[in-house]
Amino acid sequence: MNNTIIPIYTAEDIAEKVKKVGKKISEDYYGKKILLVGVLKGAFLFLADLIRNIENVDFEVSFIRAKSYNGNKSTGNVEISCDDDLKNFDFKDHHVIIVEDILDTGLTIAVLKDYFDSKGAESVKVAAFMDKPSNRVNDIKADYFCYEFNDDKFVVGYGLDYNESYRQLPFVGELVL
Ligand code: IMP
Ligand code: MG
Repeated sequence: MNNTIIPIYTAEDIAEKVKKVGKKISEDYYGKKILLVGVLKGAFLFLADLIRNIENVDFEVSFIRAKSYNGNKSTGNVEISCDDDLKNFDFKDHHVIIVEDILDTGLTIAVLKDYFDSKGAESVKVAAFMDKPSNRVNDIKADYFCYEFNDDKFVVGYGLDYNESYRQLPFVGELVL
């Protein structure tokens, strides 16, 4: 694809923000067991960087798939899927942190939170790389986020895609269609 992309956050700034979130999680979960669940596919880079900034906390990593977007439109219909390891995970004593790329309408996270609550997790929190609170249709909040974004723009890069393109960009930018 060959669209214009207007840079918004540099790789350096992203690294700093992720470091801060990792530090906060390290403090908040000291002495607890966490399961960090990355929401595929968009959150894979954020999760990879985040775990390298978490210190002195016992954690495991897993992934779940959630799909609600087609191009740049939310379909409002969230499908989730995961592997047997996560299905059979013993959630007792574990605190779940759902690691998401963008918290937008909140429909995806609402479905995922219900899923982990029903599995008996000690607590379920959300770490979003970007929080777009102006599009929220429910009362879901990001417990941790790197950026609050209030512009009505579609962004790509740092794992975020437009029809599977642009995930590899080290920065985040606005996609001009
Ligand atoms: P929602 O919170 O259920 O609306 O879904 C959020 C999901 O939509 C995110 O996980 C992204 O995958 C996708 N999304 C929302 N806004 C953007 C954007 O600006 N760029 C790329 N993906 C987006
Ligand atoms: Mg996503």
